[in-house]
Amino acid sequence: MLETAAPGSPGQPASRRPTDLYAVIGNPIGFSKSPYIHRTFAQATGQQMDYSAIEGPLGGFAGAVDAFRAAGGLGLNITAPFKLDAFAYATEGSERARLAGAANALKFDGARVLAENFDGVGLVRDVTHNLNAPLQGKRVLLLGAGGAARGALLPFLAQAPAELLIANRSLDKAHALAAIGAGQGRVRGCGYDELAGQTFDLVFNATSASLRAELPPVPASVFAPDCLAYELAYGKGLTPFLRLAKNAGVRQLADGVGMLAEQAAEAFKWWRGVRPDTRAVIAGLTVPLV
Ligand code: ATR
Repeated sequence: MLETAAPGSPGQPASRRPTDLYAVIGNPIGFSKSPYIHRTFAQATGQQMDYSAIEGPLGGFAGAVDAFRAAGGLGLNITAPFKLDAFAYATEGSERARLAGAANALKFDGARVLAENFDGVGLVRDVTHNLNAPLQGKRVLLLGAGGAARGALLPFLAQAPAELLIANRSLDKAHALAAIGAGQGRVRGCGYDELAGQTFDLVFNATSASLRAELPPVPASVFAPDCLAYELAYGKGLTPFLRLAKNAGVRQLADGVGMLAEQAAEAFKWWRGVRPDTRAVIAGLTVPLV
């Protein structure tokens, strides 16, 4: 009996194989850098794949993903506002996706839908590897207790900081997030008023304040000498938070460009088995912090 290769299987000549389909889904999606990042990765690693952007209808996430899968889609990146929907859609979640209750990447394997969350590991990789600023033994301040802070919590604690303080306007959210990390390291939630008189080696702005050019009520005295000030938002230039740090004498300022590239590299490796080098993408996307 003649064996016929399944569509897309390695046995089929490349020219006749349907291209492996991936995409990012969000709303709005027009400004997403993910297609540029993944196409650059695919080219650099010689992977045959197509990566597009999907504007998912609000309230219609599941239908849009069903249609993508029916067209042969193999994996998705998820951006706002669908990270919680993506986690709910999945049939299986990694530990970090489960703890975040949110997914930023999905992989489709027949009826199985696997959920991952690479935001926190991407951030840690950028800080420790690209920026050469280890968290181990350091005093770390995380501003905000929403989705972005939640993704960072466990990857931060895995680096064994001396202390992780989570400051938030709504105190109950700061305490609730700290409670999730209890047992994984020294972590505490507090209000902004408690920050007076304290200094930190690394300060992360994981609030959504910068998206509206607002400044979280953090005192300029929190930045220790040789501190790293990191804005998780990407491409906003010198945000009010970074300006505060700069005016306080902080020399190491960063925004989320490296985090964006590193979380994408993790997803790419998860889908394709190859980890791309992120340097070209980071250089291509860097917006000067002025
Ligand atoms: P995301 O997924 O981007 O984290 P989110 O889950 O809505 O978005 O959370 C937004 C976070 O930014 C919250 O921690 C919010 O603080 P509150 O919980 O006290 O509302 C914080 N935030 C937004 N605007 C802020 C501002 N101007 N100053 C301080 N914190 C702010």
